[in-house]
Amino acid sequence: MVTHWMKPPLAAFPQIGHTGSRRRRRRPSCRKIAETSGPGLPPLDGDLEALDALSSDALVLFGGTGDLARKKIYPALLALAKRGRLDLPVIAVARGGFDAERFREYVRENLQLAGARDAFDRLAPRLDFVRGDYRAGATYAALRRRLGERERPLYYLAIPPDAFPDVVDQLGRSGCTRGARVVLEKPFGRDLASARALNAVLRERFAEESIFRIDHYLAKEAVQNLAYFRFANAVLEPVWNRHYVASVQVTQAEDFGVEGRGAFYDSVGAIRDVVQNHLLQIVAMLAMEPPNRLDGDAQRDEKVKVLRAIRPIARSDIVRGQYRGYRGEAGVDPESGVETFAAVRLAIDAWRWAGVPFLIRAGKRLAATATEVVVEFVRPPRQLFAEPVPSRANYARFRLGPDRVAIAIGVRTKAPGAAMVGRDIELYCCDQEPEAPDPYERLIGDALAGDGMLFAREEAVEAAWRVVEPALDDAEPPFEYEPGSWGPARASALAADAGGWHAPPPDRL
Ligand code: BG6
Repeated sequence: MVTHWMKPPLAAFPQIGHTGSRRRRRRPSCRKIAETSGPGLPPLDGDLEALDALSSDALVLFGGTGDLARKKIYPALLALAKRGRLDLPVIAVARGGFDAERFREYVRENLQLAGARDAFDRLAPRLDFVRGDYRAGATYAALRRRLGERERPLYYLAIPPDAFPDVVDQLGRSGCTRGARVVLEKPFGRDLASARALNAVLRERFAEESIFRIDHYLAKEAVQNLAYFRFANAVLEPVWNRHYVASVQVTQAEDFGVEGRGAFYDSVGAIRDVVQNHLLQIVAMLAMEPPNRLDGDAQRDEKVKVLRAIRPIARSDIVRGQYRGYRGEAGVDPESGVETFAAVRLAIDAWRWAGVPFLIRAGKRLAATATEVVVEFVRPPRQLFAEPVPSRANYARFRLGPDRVAIAIGVRTKAPGAAMVGRDIELYCCDQEPEAPDPYERLIGDALAGDGMLFAREEAVEAAWRVVEPALDDAEPPFEYEPGSWGPARASALAADAGGWHAPPPDRL
C-alpha cells in the first residue's frame, strides 16, 4: 500500500518537475529575461543594456587589485562571461600603477584559465582601469569620463569597510550615483551604531533597492535548499516547532587559519566575520515562518522577523576561543584578544521556538572543514524496548558544504534478530553539484540585473548587529584551544542539555 501525504498548501517555489542532482531550480538568466519580456527587443546577442532596461550597463570595481577581487570576483566574472552573461565594461579602480593593458594581464595571471580561454578573450577587451586614490575627487572625474555614455553603473565596493563612506560620498559629489547601484562587501559596519551610520550615508545617495549588501551564504545552493526543503515538503511543518524540535545546532568549522588575512581578521574576529552574518542568516532560514511568496521581499520580511525575535546574546551564553599560535600569524597583534572561535546559545522569542536552544559555533583551525545544521527532535514519550536508551534522538542533518550538499535523517531501526533492540541509521542523500554557480557569480549576476532577493536588507543587518552587540569587544581574553580540536572545552557547557555539540562526520561519497 502506498500512503499519500498532503501537498504543501502553497507553491512558494516555481515548479520544475524533476529535482534530481543536475536539474535544480534555476532562476532565469538575463537571456531568459530578454526572451520573455515582450516584443520589439533587439537580438539576444546585443549587450545587456539592450536585453533588459533594468540591467546595469557597466561594472565598476573598487578594490580591483585586492584579495577579494582576485580570489572571488574575477573568477565570477569569467564564469559569467563563459555563460554569455557579461557583456558590459568592467572598470577597476585602485591605487596600483596599472594601465588597462597591464591590468588585463594581471587579471589573466590571476585566473585559472583552463577551459575558459574563449571566455577570457571575450572578457579581456571589456576590462579597463582607473588609477587613483579613493578619497580624491580627481579619481571620480576620471571614472565619470571613462563611463562615457553608460548611465546605469553598478559600483562594487570590494575595499576595507572604513573606506565605504568616503567612496559613497565622492560618488555622489561627482554625479556618479544617478541610475546607479552599489554592492557592499561584509562586514557591514562594526556594530549597530556604525551600521546605522553607514546605512544613513548610503541612503543619502542610493535608494534601498539600489543597495546590495553581500552575504555570500545567501547565494549558496545548500542554504537556499534549506528553505526549499522546508517549504516544498508538507511533512516537515507539523514537527518544525518547539513541540517536536529539542534543539538546533549550526556549525561552521574550518581546519585552516587566517591564511594571509591576519590583519583583516584581527580587526574583526569570528563574531563579526561569520556569526553576525552567515550563521545568523542560516538560523533565520531555519526558523522563519513560511513566506507567502518567493519574491524578493516576502522571504526577507520573514527573516527579519526572526532576527528581531532573537534575544541579544547574554555573556553567559557565549564562549570565545583563540587557537594556539594565532598571535604569531602575520598581521596579527602579538597581544591580540580577538576570537577565532565563538560558540553561542541563542533563544528565539517566537511562538514556534520558545524554549528551543539554537546552538551555533564557528571557528578557524578546528578539526574539520564543514558547515552543518543538525535539527534534533524530541525523544519518543516512552521507552518501549528493553534496550539501553539510545544515545541520539531522531534528527535531520543538513551538510551545507564545502564540497557537497547532503541531507540525512537519523532514525532507529530494528537490528536483525529475535530481540526487539535497535540500531541508529541515517537515511542519507547527497547532492554533489560541481557545476552549480559559485555564490559570487550568482550574486554579481543578480546585482547587475537588479534582483535583490539574495542580498541583506538594512533592517536585517541592523537586527543581526543587535543580537551580537553585547558579545563584541569583550575585555576578557578568549580561551586558548589546540589547533585541530573542536575549540575550547568551555564551549561544551553551552550544549550540555542538548546532548553536547555534534561534530560534523567525515563526508561520505
Ligand atoms: C567569509 C569569511 O565571509 O566566509 C571567511 O570572511 C570564511 O573567514 C568564509 O572563511 C567562509 O566561506 P565559505 O563559502 O568558504 O564557507
